[in-house]
Amino acid sequence: MTSIHAQRRARLAAQLGAGGIAIIPTAPERPRNRDSDFPYRHDSYFYYLTGFAEPGACLVLTAEGDSLLFCRPKDVEREIWDGYRLGPEAAVATLDVDAALPSDRLDTELPRLLENRQRVWFPFATHEGLAARVEGWLNAVRARVRYGALCPAEQADVCALLDEMRLVKDAHELDTMRRAADISARAHIRAMQRSARMLRAGQDVREYHLEAELLAAFREEGSQFPAYGSIVAAGANACVLHYRADTAPVRAGELVLIDAGCELDGYASDITRTFPADGRFTGPQRALYELVLASQQAAIAATRAGARFNDPHEATVAVLAQGLLDLGLLDAGKVGSAQDVIEQRAYFQFYMHRTGHWLGMDVHDCGSYVEPAEVGQTSERRDPLSGETILNRPSRILRPGMVLTIEPGLYVRPAPGVPEQFHGIGIRIEDDAIVTEGGCELITRGVPVEADEIEALMH
Ligand code: GLY
Ligand code: MN
Ligand code: MN
Repeated sequence: MTSIHAQRRARLAAQLGAGGIAIIPTAPERPRNRDSDFPYRHDSYFYYLTGFAEPGACLVLTAEGDSLLFCRPKDVEREIWDGYRLGPEAAVATLDVDAALPSDRLDTELPRLLENRQRVWFPFATHEGLAARVEGWLNAVRARVRYGALCPAEQADVCALLDEMRLVKDAHELDTMRRAADISARAHIRAMQRSARMLRAGQDVREYHLEAELLAAFREEGSQFPAYGSIVAAGANACVLHYRADTAPVRAGELVLIDAGCELDGYASDITRTFPADGRFTGPQRALYELVLASQQAAIAATRAGARFNDPHEATVAVLAQGLLDLGLLDAGKVGSAQDVIEQRAYFQFYMHRTGHWLGMDVHDCGSYVEPAEVGQTSERRDPLSGETILNRPSRILRPGMVLTIEPGLYVRPAPGVPEQFHGIGIRIEDDAIVTEGGCELITRGVPVEADEIEALMH
């Protein structure tokens, strides 16, 4: 049976055009300090086509569908220090490639492989130094033109093809993403329960205690890493969008915002929940929470095949705009109707990010947010806040198998005219959705979102 990775390679090969050849390296190892490296993470494009997570590898694929893998050679001494290497010999059967060579042969083999090819594809602006290396290989081909060799005349960005492929997930990917989402959902529940339990016991709870609970939960279920740096933000820290788990005290009566998700077998999950540290929402907290939740429900209802990527955002903004007026966060006397709030972007004071992004191997996954068939249909608008002229293009039409996050929020910094009872409250609710024909499948609801349900699980 052909492996899923071989099937993906065949689909890519079919798009390389006559005489095309693609070069797709994995990520380098990155030093953290002296001789310690950051934990190794493969390149997502490379992994998508090989399922191979070792460093030091590179895939070469031709339009005819031939696949050649360069990988680290077996080396008993290095393996004693750094661990097992698959090696080229075993790679052929294990990774279902046509041939494999040791990676130190790359510079000698590539000129030979590029000779008489029309177009060379590689990831642009992704691997530092790769473009220069390709130039070097092409120069080596040019040195042989007097002997009749032809040198590729075109270079193209292989990410353009792979981004489109990766945007619509296959069954194998969706299965992995559901499992990653389940693990993350259970981790959020554990962190909520730990917060309430420690506060009930009179303990000094810090953001890092909750982060520790998340990390333990991810690891205990086999996840390799967090998909991104976990945000555990107590109280007003939630209003700092890129806050990280730190040492701040988690206090009864305040909210905690946790934005955290694990990576499982190369796929990310991305969940945010906001909960009362001790398990009981106060009145103002609940009022804002219910508003964010209602705006998320509107976004979810707008997420289905055939809708546009921007539709959930617009649905969110419509609900938030009205809610901000109703709760007195915006003064109708000053900003006018909900429609005015939307047109003037007055909600931006409290909601300054978009409602979602593609999710996949990368937490902010690849894939164009513009509908490819309509990329030339531009219109201009003047942004009411910055005064800049912005070129709009029709946003992406959603298709079954695309995965996106739905993550509205409200962040209330103290400011003149903002009711004090809301000061310092930051709320985001984030779920991961697979687009389906009639709607979407929320894969992160293993952790509840309803305020009553959150209170119940914390008691
Ligand atoms: N955790 C990153 C994001 O929500 O986009
Ligand atoms: Mn997100
Ligand atoms: Mn997130």
